[in-house]
Amino acid sequence: MNEKNAATQHAHMTLVDHARGTSYDMPVIRGSVGPDVIDIRHLYTDTGYFTFDPGFTSTGSCESKITFINGEEGILLYRGYAIQDLAEHSDFMEVAYLLLKGELPTAAEKTKFEHDITYHSMLHEQIAYLYRGFRRDAHPMAVMCGVVGALSAFYHDSLNISDPRQRMIASYRLVAKMPTIAAWAYKYAMGQPFIYPRNEMRYAENFLHMMFATPCETYKVNPILAKAMDRILILHADHEQNASTSTVRLAGSSGANPFACIAAGIASLWGPAHGGANEAVLNMLTKIGDKRHIPDYIRRAKDKSDSFRLMGFGHRVYKNYDPRASIMRRTAHEVLGELDKTDDPLLEVAMELERIALSDEYFVERRLYPNVDFYSGIIFKAMEIPTAMFTALFALARTVGWISQWNEMIEDPSQKIGRPRQLYSGQGLRPFKPIHQRM
Ligand code: SDX
Repeated sequence: MNEKNAATQHAHMTLVDHARGTSYDMPVIRGSVGPDVIDIRHLYTDTGYFTFDPGFTSTGSCESKITFINGEEGILLYRGYAIQDLAEHSDFMEVAYLLLKGELPTAAEKTKFEHDITYHSMLHEQIAYLYRGFRRDAHPMAVMCGVVGALSAFYHDSLNISDPRQRMIASYRLVAKMPTIAAWAYKYAMGQPFIYPRNEMRYAENFLHMMFATPCETYKVNPILAKAMDRILILHADHEQNASTSTVRLAGSSGANPFACIAAGIASLWGPAHGGANEAVLNMLTKIGDKRHIPDYIRRAKDKSDSFRLMGFGHRVYKNYDPRASIMRRTAHEVLGELDKTDDPLLEVAMELERIALSDEYFVERRLYPNVDFYSGIIFKAMEIPTAMFTALFALARTVGWISQWNEMIEDPSQKIGRPRQLYSGQGLRPFKPIHQRM
């Protein structure tokens, strides 16, 4: 990829307006890989037209160098590196460095980065009191939204978004503290004491230790599970302009502080159509319960009058197998094998559901394949992570992607506040009617 020519004007597109008997020339811009874009930034001022694209199915919201997806071919690259290579040969700290800084770290850079992240993993002690404001049965994502948004009330020395040094400190703090925040949400729900991060532990191991250790005895994290968790964090780290990343960018475009922007991303990720799908998949598999019930659920998934959807299937961009799902599938077998749970009925139901759906014309025609969320719940359940925590783990992993995209937006010289327009179909101007005239 030739960086300096990564986005250049490549050609023109002519829009012919038959109604007005005129035409408009619009520049076509070519990136380094992927579809060219029609530059419509002056469309309204030149033509008086808006474009109309609810759900942004055909709209590029920004220029980015971070993550590339080819949905037709099931390709996912972080800064040009294939997700398969990163999952196989790298670790989450390296991938976090790569997403934030654009290159894989040297050994020295990696050591310093891991040290810096480790030494930001503690929370201000007052934050522990914030948790006590929640009910014990509060959903962990409600706690994550609240606590992450509140970080801006504690870390005033990393709120100035025009200062690159403060932006990077805020970025490190968010990556470092998310495991502590997520683990403490779980401990609070369990009524157990908070476990502090351990500086001698690596990222995923530290998280699992904070989740499952107690003050009563030494807790040894299973290295196979720590490796599996590390790989899962890599797979969830970033994913181009998905709903939650777009939320972070839009919130950040107004100049909001990074902690508030990440809290907005957490809120968006919570939805069952997005990051909440991993929790919804497990609830669905539990409801199906047995392979014999699958045909009825497949029928319901196709029935437009039925709100049931096959959770963990389908994707706005991937019209092929989500490359992350393949790695998650392999990881599910590894983890269940390590924990001697390969006879987990939920895995059996998931495998049979996948087999049937992949041969069913409805799903094949619509190119609905398993996505990253389809297997994660089975792995997390085997690790005895409660279902309600699944999306919190997704948010933990995605934070480095969100904050990398936020930094890229802030550093973009053409950046301006995001302010979409609309197609208005409501009432035109009409006179006010006093209440005695209304019937
Ligand atoms: C994530 O954007 C990202 O990158 C997200 C993500 C990330 O890393 O950030 O990859 C993470 O969010 C993965 C997706 C997790 N969500 C789910 O698993 C929920 C179930 N999936 C669906 O809700 C749906 O597939 C979406 C939301 C994921 C995608 O929806 P689209 O692109 O808007 O597709 P659509 O709703 O227009 O569906 C097209 C057709 C429709 O049928 P027709 O009107 O053409 O007859 O496919 C059908 C839909 O009814 N369809 C499904 C289905 N998903 C789509 N039918 C049954 N079950 C499904 N899961």
